[in-house]
Amino acid sequence: MERSGEKPLEDGEPRGFLVPECGVHLRQMNPSDLDEIMTIERASFSYPWSARFFLQELRVPCARYLLAVLGERIVGYIIYWLLLSEVDIHNLAVHPAYRRRGIGRSLLQAVIDEARDHRSSRITLEVRKSNEAAQRLYQSLGFAARGVRKGYYSDDGEDALAMALEFDS
Ligand SMILES: CC(C)(COP(=O)(O)OP(=O)(O)OC[C@H]1O[C@@H](n2cnc3c(N)ncnc32)[C@H](O)[C@@H]1OP(=O)(O)O)[C@@H](O)C(=O)NCCC(=O)NCCS
Repeated sequence: MERSGEKPLEDGEPRGFLVPECGVHLRQMNPSDLDEIMTIERASFSYPWSARFFLQELRVPCARYLLAVLGERIVGYIIYWLLLSEVDIHNLAVHPAYRRRGIGRSLLQAVIDEARDHRSSRITLEVRKSNEAAQRLYQSLGFAARGVRKGYYSDDGEDALAMALEFDS
């Protein structure tokens, strides 16, 4: 499937899609990628998911992982559930050394394109109320706040902002 802003790879390039704007390849995850993903996860969140939790998530039939790769290095990922009529984003992170280059936007845009192809009615997610960087990213791609989930994060009790991107039917 070809996505907007990306070009199919030439023969001999690694499988996936190249995003010319920021030079990353987007590809599916292999189990051997987990160590690199965990490094980014631990550097990105005060309460990171465990490797075990990632593996559990991987076993969910509707779960999808998309990785951003620069050269040989994994620099970001997005994890989402492709449900019957909507998409739910569960995790998104970019390695701290590679932020503000459009990689987070490219990962999110790829999921938006897939959701459109899938004829989803909307994409939903929760984000910490204190996480302004992520909220700005989501807003820049058309997500809007849909409400507050009080004490949503069980680790420290922080509220979540529920956000959604609705597609016209
Ligand atoms: C949120 C995150 C994924 C953004 O990734 P990124 O690759 O740096 O984002 P991009 O470069 O694609 O930024 C796209 C837009 O988002 C907004 N944005 C991203 N980071 C921002 C920041 N630190 N402050 C303000 N706005 C920010 C800007 O509008 C930016 O556009 P611009 O650079 O043209 O101004 C990254 O900061 C991260 O991994 N944070 C830790 C994990 C996290 O919070 N994940 C989200 C959980 S809900």
